[in-house]
Amino acid sequence: MPNILRLNKISPLAEKILPKTYKLVDECANPDAIIVRSFKMLDYTFPESLLMVARAGAGVNNIPVDKCSEKGVVVFNTPGANANAVKELVICSLFMCGRRKKDFIGGEITGKTLGIVGLGAIGLLVANSALALGMEIIGYDPFLTPEKKAKLDSRIKTVAKLEELYPVCDFISLHVPLADNTREMINENVLATCKKGVNIINCARGELVNNPAIINALASGKVNRYVTDFPDADVLGIDNIITIPHLGASTPEAEDNCAVMAAEEMMDFLDNGNIRNS
Ligand code: MLT
Repeated sequence: MPNILRLNKISPLAEKILPKTYKLVDECANPDAIIVRSFKMLDYTFPESLLMVARAGAGVNNIPVDKCSEKGVVVFNTPGANANAVKELVICSLFMCGRRKKDFIGGEITGKTLGIVGLGAIGLLVANSALALGMEIIGYDPFLTPEKKAKLDSRIKTVAKLEELYPVCDFISLHVPLADNTREMINENVLATCKKGVNIINCARGELVNNPAIINALASGKVNRYVTDFPDADVLGIDNIITIPHLGASTPEAEDNCAVMAAEEMMDFLDNGNIRNS
């Protein structure tokens, strides 16, 4: 009977679909598998029994993936399972950027240009919804294959270099994972190339943005609004920074989808040896 250790609360649907032969527990010294949401596993001591970690979400930066690979522990995630919830928060953020509290004069998003950095599951949903709101879309994704590109709505323009996107956008929304080459990708140099009054939306990872640079750019008027779903202490209480306490994927629908996908991946691996989304 495989032991599944749950490191975070997850939707009860996972338990419902796991066969009776699986034991889902909150404490266990010798788990076969771990299911985790945002619990930070970076200093976690991996038990010898462990075969897999299922991340009920997209980002795996709370899991030491290299350490897992060395130990032969397979890491799975659930790409796309919470994409609609995050998309809805991004669309809501676009509207929030347009309206102001102090002088009451806002701005509309229709006709404005939205740059989308990363055209994965979330980025694509954002692009299609924003098109329906009358926005112009420019996307950048270094992993966009010609086949995927051919399937995009023809109104979505893409650029080959990120430097081409920044200067032409009124709004920029980030949809990339946190990695060495994306950490602080929004920094002083990049902000200098942006349009005056640009709005930056970050429902991906806080570390993608250099906070001192964005604070200075807001003070100078270069940036109109910064929306972050991962607020560090230094951005709290600053005018024109809209902070959200990491709620992008916090809907019952997204939680159910992630838990179901993670449980399915777990069963397929433990019962059949199949690896999906690793
Ligand atoms: C994700 O990585 O899927 C989202 O950021 C939500 C979460 O952290 O679970």
